[in-house]
Amino acid sequence: MKSIPDFLKWKADGKAITMVTCYDAATAKIVNATSVDSILIGDSCAMVVHGFDSTVHATVEMIAAHTAAVRRGAPDKVIIADLPFLSNRKGIDHAMDAVDQLMKAGANAVKLERRKGNIQLVEHIVDSGVPVMGHLGLTPQSVNEFGGFKMQGKSEAAARALIEDAQMLEQAGCFSIVLECIPGDVAAQVTNAISIPTIGIGCGPDVSGQVLVINDLLGMDASFQPRFARKYETLSERIGQAVDRYCADVRSATFPAAGEYSSRLAKLGS
Ligand code: KIV
Repeated sequence: MKSIPDFLKWKADGKAITMVTCYDAATAKIVNATSVDSILIGDSCAMVVHGFDSTVHATVEMIAAHTAAVRRGAPDKVIIADLPFLSNRKGIDHAMDAVDQLMKAGANAVKLERRKGNIQLVEHIVDSGVPVMGHLGLTPQSVNEFGGFKMQGKSEAAARALIEDAQMLEQAGCFSIVLECIPGDVAAQVTNAISIPTIGIGCGPDVSGQVLVINDLLGMDASFQPRFARKYETLSERIGQAVDRYCADVRSATFPAAGEYSSRLAKLGS
């Protein structure tokens, strides 16, 4: 079974790291049988599963419940769980309670969006034996500050700040960093400035690995097509068609058919 220390080895070996988000046991069971290296229980679940307009609505209880479900479905995968909005900004005890809940739910590590002032917390979590993945760039929990889901790190100063933040996260003990929606050349500079791996989304190819939200990868939402999220399926269409076929069969009385139910009359006759 793969484990957190493998991330460093994968970067050293130049092996591309793969990660997908996942939120439920049924999908996790499918993902468990794939070659993907790791699963992220992203706070994106607030948006793609619960229908909120941002990740600000995710709670520790929500992430813990999804983490437990995914762990039941994917016993063999490395699982990283997101520390949701403000869960790490209400003092160390509160933050450690959140970490505790996520780890007991089945995570192998937690992910935390970098904000000024949380380096000491990262050190404390790492010193407590919990691996931490950092998150830089478009950190969606700060969407209100950014004024939308906008690319970050475009100016020279912003690029330099990202490199410094990545170096601080590495020094604090992070085993890996997610880079979200920053220019490809900046992602490459960040990746080259640290020895821990970077996992990119919307950052181009010059990172140590890639992560996609599984709903985007599977094409679950026909109305959502960001440039960076390649659709490997169009499940929204296929699911809709399947439900319509089912409805048509019920209406034409071709479902359920013989063999799809039992009848005492059939037994008596045999
Ligand atoms: O919440 C999430 O799904 C994430 C990924 C987009 C990296 O943080």
